[in-house]
Amino acid sequence: MSFHYKDIVPWGRSFDEYLDMFNLSEDDLARDIVDVGGGPAAFNSGMHQRDAPIISVDPIYQYSEAELRQRIQETYKDIITQAFGNRDKFVWTRFASVGELVAFRRQTMETFCQDFETGRQQGRYVVAALPNLPFPDRHFDLVLSAHLLFFYSANRDLAFHLDAVRELLRIGTEVRIFPLVDVNNSFSTFVLPVIRELKKDGIDSSVEGVPYHLQKTGNQMLRLWRSGLTQLPFLDRFQTSPAACISSDP
Ligand SMILES: C[S@@+](CC[C@H](N)C(=O)[O-])C[C@H]1O[C@@H](n2cnc3c(N)ncnc32)[C@H](O)[C@@H]1O
Repeated sequence: MSFHYKDIVPWGRSFDEYLDMFNLSEDDLARDIVDVGGGPAAFNSGMHQRDAPIISVDPIYQYSEAELRQRIQETYKDIITQAFGNRDKFVWTRFASVGELVAFRRQTMETFCQDFETGRQQGRYVVAALPNLPFPDRHFDLVLSAHLLFFYSANRDLAFHLDAVRELLRIGTEVRIFPLVDVNNSFSTFVLPVIRELKKDGIDSSVEGVPYHLQKTGNQMLRLWRSGLTQLPFLDRFQTSPAACISSDP
């Protein structure tokens, strides 16, 4: 059995899962962050609880809390059924079973729902969609995007991915995208073309392992930044040119 989604579904991870998916350090959390395709995740709420500035962007933020609850509810049965049929595609260490995973997701999305109306009034949840975001150039220090690009490779083509990643790079200094595999654990065929095309625009990148491991092959993120940016803290770790860290297709 394979996962199949007619379109991108609202489904949300927790603050701690975000830390692991993007390998976020305390220094990272002090940066000006935007989460694009934030959906019903609890990252925004967690950042707000820490009094850290955060903006999440998603077209679904046009809906009310009640409408979002309804949409999440409608998505539930299909996702759970598909997750159960595809349970061999996951590593069952973070969660012991599909049941535990589902209970955790429910709790996480409840955290989002309870924060949403207040957060929207405070400007923390912004209605917008890639590839056109309503922010000036380099407005953010760190741009995150999870379970949207590459993950939904069956639903969006390469042209969309290129336009979207260029837009993420326009609004921020550094971009991190997780995961690099699609819903069925295949390394997205768009990752290497995106890396190669953006290299021509003067964008450096690295594929990096992260602590988050739920999909069997889904424990890598793509990091992108403009060539010549030497003040990014993580660059110290590279012994050679950052571009040399681009892995080959796993
Ligand atoms: C599976 S959810 C992921 C939520 C969260 N990032 C996470 O990892 O838990 C994907 C989200 O992407 C949003 N989305 C779909 N198309 C988008 C676009 N063009 N621009 C921004 N977000 C989009 C969907 O509305 C959905 O909420």
